[in-house]
Amino acid sequence: MNADERRELWEGLCAVEDYLGGGPKKARALPDFSAPEAPEESLGTIAAEVRACRACRLCDTRKNAVPGQGPSSPLAMVVGEGPGAEEDSSGLPFVGPAGKLLDKMLASIGLSREDNCFIANVVKCRPPLNRDPADDEREACLGYLERQIALLRPKAILCVGRVAAGALLGTADGVGRLRGAWRDFGGTPLLVTYHPSALLRDESYKRPAWEDLKLFRERL
Ligand code: URA
Ligand code: SF4
Repeated sequence: MNADERRELWEGLCAVEDYLGGGPKKARALPDFSAPEAPEESLGTIAAEVRACRACRLCDTRKNAVPGQGPSSPLAMVVGEGPGAEEDSSGLPFVGPAGKLLDKMLASIGLSREDNCFIANVVKCRPPLNRDPADDEREACLGYLERQIALLRPKAILCVGRVAAGALLGTADGVGRLRGAWRDFGGTPLLVTYHPSALLRDESYKRPAWEDLKLFRERL
């Protein structure tokens, strides 16, 4: 609403109040119609908050926060653990070797970050030496991911790796136990699969990961 629309609404409400009051026009102090509104929630406003965020210790060692990347009305979302070295340098998610593999996995089921898939992480700043994010760091950061999911409303979420799955599902179970069946994250269907970096380390994960991708595609 702009200043003119605000003034019009105010005048209308005053007229209603005078009418209902049945008396003469009440004297009122004129409000400041130019007062700025809270910015509407968007990918951009969330990203700006993430880049300025100092809610946990990871802000002290990051080069760049990594809010996420993708279209504003995606079909699907991928959620990883947190930025690594390349992501920290570039400010973009999944751009290192694991990211290249992730892009190929997504392409095999018709998804891409350019078109129809938003890519994000549980923590938006790189943990030093790529250690697992601590409980308090994940808790401090999870609100941003929840806001992204609420805004983007993907049809399904692909959660890659044990750490991301643990953060979203509140479990210590490994991927081997969690994969292969649909889960729920706040009303959004969620599928757990192996992290692409695990696939780079161990070829034997490739077949089950492909089964998971096919299951994911069926849902979309
Ligand atoms: N691994 C992740 O979990 N996320 C990234 O963004 C990059 C690597
Ligand atoms: Fe803020 Fe998340 Fe970065 Fe911590 S990891 S400083 S909570 S954006």
